[in-house]
Amino acid sequence: MQLQDILYSQGFGTRRICAGLIQQGLVMVDGQARREPAEDFDPADLQFQVQGRAWHFYEKAYVVLHKPAGTECSQKPSTYPSVYTLLPAPLRQRPQKGAVQGVQAVGRLDQDTTGLLLLTDDGQFIHRMNSPRHHVPKVYEVTTKHPLDPSQASRLMAGVVLDDDPRPVRAAACEIAGEHHLRLTLTEGKYHQVKRMLAAVGNRVEGLHRSRIGELVLPPELEPGQWRWLSAQDLAALRA
Ligand code: URA
Repeated sequence: MQLQDILYSQGFGTRRICAGLIQQGLVMVDGQARREPAEDFDPADLQFQVQGRAWHFYEKAYVVLHKPAGTECSQKPSTYPSVYTLLPAPLRQRPQKGAVQGVQAVGRLDQDTTGLLLLTDDGQFIHRMNSPRHHVPKVYEVTTKHPLDPSQASRLMAGVVLDDDPRPVRAAACEIAGEHHLRLTLTEGKYHQVKRMLAAVGNRVEGLHRSRIGELVLPPELEPGQWRWLSAQDLAALRA
């Protein structure tokens, strides 16, 4: 695959921009500046540097972000900065079928929710993770305003009715981890679901943090606002 096409596929801009980066000597492979845009490389596992920053070729991008509070999961946020501004430009620009699309959040978290957010340009993966049919568990650490009692947990497990749907929604698991700390597992993702479920049992969410999706735990080394690529192991844990 030509070097300019490799860069293009990884989100470094139009082919013309990518050719320009290469001709200016800003792209290095194996420690050597490559100035010929049409030079061929095997993209599989290719490591390269663009303007001094190390990159790895990935057919599809899968990243985990520690979402900080006060950020919106929308590309066009209304009030708070977008989580997409926490990612480098190439991740936001990866082309898809010719159009510049970039990675997309796998489901949204509210602006005040923190924790594990996945982003990818793999549409099938997004669908699989979000579809209630696949029952992918999402674990939330909920800080409640009022002390928790076992009857609230039982009601969340039995199912509560939210205002937009007569069918009850249930927690897949529910553990009272402290007087004001509930660990709630959901396998679907309705709008404000945790907040509305807690309100339905007479409590109120004061803090919300997503700690796990499937078998993938938020990597402890990621500070709020930091991201990293998912490893093959992480992906296997998610697809399990
Ligand atoms: N449920 C909510 O209420 N908010 C979130 O951000 C995620 C789940």
